[in-house]
Amino acid sequence: MPDVRLVEVGPRDGLQNEVRPLSVGDRVQMIEGLIGAGLKTIEAGSFVSPKWVPQMAGSAEVLASVSNQDGVSLPMLVPNLKGFEAARDAGATEIAIFASASESFSQKNINCSIDESFERFLPVLEGAREARMRVRGYVSCVLGCPYEGAVELSAVVNVSRRLYDIGCYEISLGDTIGIGTPRAAAAMVIAVAGEVPVTAIALHEHNTYGQALANILACLEEGVSVFDASVGGLGGCPYARGATGNVATEELVFMLEGMGVRTGVDLVKLAHVAVETAQKLGRDPVSPVSRIMAARSVNP
Ligand code: HMG
Ligand code: MG
Repeated sequence: MPDVRLVEVGPRDGLQNEVRPLSVGDRVQMIEGLIGAGLKTIEAGSFVSPKWVPQMAGSAEVLASVSNQDGVSLPMLVPNLKGFEAARDAGATEIAIFASASESFSQKNINCSIDESFERFLPVLEGAREARMRVRGYVSCVLGCPYEGAVELSAVVNVSRRLYDIGCYEISLGDTIGIGTPRAAAAMVIAVAGEVPVTAIALHEHNTYGQALANILACLEEGVSVFDASVGGLGGCPYARGATGNVATEELVFMLEGMGVRTGVDLVKLAHVAVETAQKLGRDPVSPVSRIMAARSVNP
């Protein structure tokens, strides 16, 4: 049994901001590669407006085409009832809804206030209960907002508790612009853990300022055991300008396994997916771990 659970978000968070969209076939191949590397939870796409995020068009076809789904969860990101219905009809068994701790980010990202977003979530949760689908909840801007700067801890705690109270089994705390540093990240997690069980908390670190691994380590020490990551360090949010990708899954695996924390992931196979995906996107992999493994073509 792994000691931590990794939630791979590359096929969604990683690809949603790419200039060159990947075809459905390439996305399926990426997800199958990630399954082959041992990842058990892979966010496979989103059902948002294709006018807002064209890169995620075709998510239903992606979900339908992935083979070897046994023992694997492929959550789909949804913002509202329309997205939920599309996800359910596509055969999703898990979804993720997303709120923000910052009003401005909520407006820019999903065109409504935080309170309005919760009004949209209620029918989604109801539908998910009926369809026996698990629902994960994201909170964006937990350590800072691209529009407002500092975000009150009380806002982060409040939105996290609201998502938990309406039925999300896990709350993923998103450092959307990667601005947090380890003590701030730990303090934020401690505050949220006052209202939401720490076992239901996940950390979603973007690596914009190179702080992601340090923040993860600080939060691991506070009892967090679920971490989101994106293969190759791909990604960013289209509504957070300049925000770069999530922590690279292979860097996270390298650090955790090196510390004796078992992830259940095969680093060589994972690095292979990172390199192959970067090639399809027409660029070099951004993570040092995948770059060095690609250059050597051998085990680390
Ligand atoms: P809106 O314009 O306010 O929505 O957008 P609306 O209800 O007024 O509908 C407008 C049009 O969108 C209509 O179509 C709807 O049918 C359509 P039209 O009549 O113009 O042809 N529509 C949809 N189409 C497909 N799927 C849907 C859907 N809903 C409405 N689900 C909306 C509201 C939420 C749809 C829009 O703002 C949107 O799609 N935003 C994209 C948000 C997004 O994907 N952001 C990136 C992911 S979040 C993230 O990256 C952060 C995270 O990683 C954590 C972190 O790092 O912080 C999770
Ligand atoms: Mg994100």
